[in-house]
Amino acid sequence: MSGSEPILSVRDLSAGYGAGRMVADVSFTLGPGEILCLVGESGCGKSTLLKAVMGTTPGLQVLSGEIILEGRSLLALPPRERQRICCDKFGLVSQSPGASFNPIRSYRKQFTETLKSHGKYDRNTFDAQVDEAFGKLSLNDRERILASCPYEMSGGMNQRIAFSLALLLGQDILLADEPTSALDATVQLQVAQELRRLRDVSGIAQIIVTHNLALAQFLADRIGVMYAGRLVELGTPEQVLGDPRHPYTRALIAAIPSLQGGMPVGLQGQPPLEGPADAGCEFCERCPVCRDGCAERRYAPIDAGGGHMTACGCADGGV
Ligand SMILES: Nc1ncnc2c1ncn2[C@@H]1O[C@H](COP(=O)(O)OP(=O)(O)OP(=O)(O)O)[C@@H](O)[C@H]1O
Ligand SMILES: [Mg+2]
Repeated sequence: MSGSEPILSVRDLSAGYGAGRMVADVSFTLGPGEILCLVGESGCGKSTLLKAVMGTTPGLQVLSGEIILEGRSLLALPPRERQRICCDKFGLVSQSPGASFNPIRSYRKQFTETLKSHGKYDRNTFDAQVDEAFGKLSLNDRERILASCPYEMSGGMNQRIAFSLALLLGQDILLADEPTSALDATVQLQVAQELRRLRDVSGIAQIIVTHNLALAQFLADRIGVMYAGRLVELGTPEQVLGDPRHPYTRALIAAIPSLQGGMPVGLQGQPPLEGPADAGCEFCERCPVCRDGCAERRYAPIDAGGGHMTACGCADGGV
């Protein structure tokens, strides 16, 4: 993690559907074995960012910026070559098990087909490899699982099986879009523990999109907060959740319901549907500390100390 070369560097990335820009000027790095959680309200561009990095979503274009994977600039490659490398290196796990797998086709068929399409199927070693991957995710009884179809499995089991496929494919970076949001609280915790274990035993780096700040606190080495397609705060959980600098992060934290009975402070309004603005701070209209000039001025992320990046000129620690 810190101190080692990043395996993924995203620099000033802007992306959108057609002419509409939905993600703007996003920069971050991911170290080997690092877990980055992306949080933010619905429509803030978390999934679009993940898909732009993965590069396999038709209609979603990178408009500017760079994506450097293991020292190689992905956007400089011919599209087919980029796609091949991304499918090899990135494992994508989505919220709904049905989106990761065909619900009515056995896992055995789907594992075999996927491994074949990646040129990684070996009939002689398949069972042993599956045993090893399943073992890392506390999945027992290979034959029973492989003979089952996804629709027969619980959401938590499905997610674990999807993670095990990423292990089998030898992918270095897991991109997971709300991998636990369809699960109940206890299963969420189990899946989160498995993700941590996956990192600990296999060194797989992860970018995980979640709406759950508590989950992000538990899982993440670093948390990135997105608002209107921009990364407005980035740092360790202690920095971002313990010492939030951006008023949007503060508002998100204040909006969490508490078990102690205190009513959360709701965040009024909603993020701009049109995505990032060309000029000015997008949070202005909802911001309690907005000053004259914020509507015209763009605050680029600056380091508030120890790599804690924040893009606000008005919050404590901003400039
Ligand atoms: N296929 C698409 N075509 C056009 N616009 C899209 C498409 N997918 C998403 N968008 C728009 O891009 C913006 C960002 O959406 P995105 O799905 O990335 O947000 P999100 O942060 O993942 O939200 P959620 O938490 O609800 O999943 C939204 O305004 C959305 O309407
Ligand atoms: Mg999303």
